[in-house]
Amino acid sequence: MSDQKTMEQKILLQHEEPLKTLDDYLARGGFQALKKALGMTQMQVIDEIKRSSLRGRGGAGFPTGIKWEGVYKKQADILGMIPTKYLVCNGSEGEPGTYKDRYLIQKNPYSLIEGMMIASYAIGTYKAIICIKEIFKKEIAILQRALKECADAGYIGDNVMGTGRNLPLELGFGPDSYLLGEDRAQLEVLEGKPAWPRAKGMIPVEYGLFGQPTVVNNVETLSTVPYIILRGADWFKSIGTADTAGTMIFTLTGDVNRPGMYELPMGTSLRTLIEVYGGGAKLDRHIRAVFSGPTNAVIPADKLDTPLDFASMRKIPSGIGSGGFIVYDDTACILKAGLNFARFLAIESCGQCASCKTGTGRIAHRLGLIEEGKGTEQDVFAILEDCLHTKGSGRCYLVTETGIDISSIFYNFPDDVVEHLEYGCLKDRHLPLPKIKDFDEATHTFTFDENYFDRSFAEGRYIIEPAL
Ligand SMILES: Cc1cc2nc3c(=O)[nH]c(=O)nc-3n(C[C@H](O)[C@H](O)[C@H](O)COP(=O)(O)O)c2cc1C
Ligand code: SF4
Repeated sequence: MSDQKTMEQKILLQHEEPLKTLDDYLARGGFQALKKALGMTQMQVIDEIKRSSLRGRGGAGFPTGIKWEGVYKKQADILGMIPTKYLVCNGSEGEPGTYKDRYLIQKNPYSLIEGMMIASYAIGTYKAIICIKEIFKKEIAILQRALKECADAGYIGDNVMGTGRNLPLELGFGPDSYLLGEDRAQLEVLEGKPAWPRAKGMIPVEYGLFGQPTVVNNVETLSTVPYIILRGADWFKSIGTADTAGTMIFTLTGDVNRPGMYELPMGTSLRTLIEVYGGGAKLDRHIRAVFSGPTNAVIPADKLDTPLDFASMRKIPSGIGSGGFIVYDDTACILKAGLNFARFLAIESCGQCASCKTGTGRIAHRLGLIEEGKGTEQDVFAILEDCLHTKGSGRCYLVTETGIDISSIFYNFPDDVVEHLEYGCLKDRHLPLPKIKDFDEATHTFTFDENYFDRSFAEGRYIIEPAL
């Protein structure tokens, strides 16, 4: 695929400058998609989204139209009561290495609002909520301003666009917790409870906010909706691959010359993202490994030609996650990078499932010993055993992430493990956890939450059980 073609296929970031006012958005065709949708039946809108093959951009890649249809079709609960349906936009973005949702809100909050209005109409919501972390002050201010403008102009709230339909949309806030992003935990937070995932079977479409049918969609997923409605499902499917249509905003961090957010058609190779858009490895060093957050298996350098779509990434085997790719060159210790993720997941584990809190803690502790040069072969085998038995054992996917990520490092970089057992870590380079706080576009620089570990250790959130 030529670079020219990929540049032409930007959808969400097609405007060079951020859209700062509703007038900016309206001047570029804003809210025409909502107008069009309101002239269609609810099921026609859902069918168009289904036909477009839009898959969620929050991590799991679930087909958006199917989720919408599931909630739309809930016409009565088991007692025969009419359900009050909800739409929740997941704006918590807690995955290390990901910044695209905040970036998108900064660039254009209006497509998200319009997408949410279209979804609200299609599924027949009582209320829509954007759930965002209270620490995302900049994005909250942008959204508050945009929501007021849109309400004043009649695009959200009562009597939307003069149709007599009431489609309220408000902000909801949550703590700086990774689990706020897990959809069932997010619903708990919106009900005023801690960010603890509900039991596995309680899927939001069936049992969502206040027990009502609920669609939870990611910021990028919902922001894409107006473009599909306006230009049609066939146009959307003409971009990307047969497995995953459209584009995705990839966050690229780590050892590349131009870290940043790049919107590319699905199917672009990871190598193109890194070399063409990210400017390649720094100082002509060699890339050794890429992580798509802590969620998936590490991607070794010989897999860089993999197309970025859900199926191809699963095959290698890894995953796209939320599109955040962290690149490490040959000066970085891959075990240290894995240790950062293992500690992060152990800290963020809520502790409802014993296998998760103790398993993630033990894995992180033993990996720490190996990294310090105090580990033994027994630690390696104990980690691999924990990776195996914790997999799928908890209420949510967090516990499985640790096992996949850390065991993949051992299998892909066995020499590094042996070297650590013999000599300890020979690379003394500082590797921060890429938990992104901010991005400076002018210098292509990300700022990370450098105090995260110290803060979490001091708060007693890192619990290990070395004796087990
Ligand atoms: C531990 C964990 C953290 C997650 N964090 C996020 C997040 O920050 N943002 C997000 O959109 N989805 C996140 N997800 C996925 C959500 O549970 C859910 O699948 C997603 O919001 C659905 O939206 P989509 O279908 O548009 O992708 C997370 C999942 C897990 C297991
Ligand atoms: S798997 Fe872990 S993070 Fe998820 S609910 Fe259980 S203890 Fe909490």
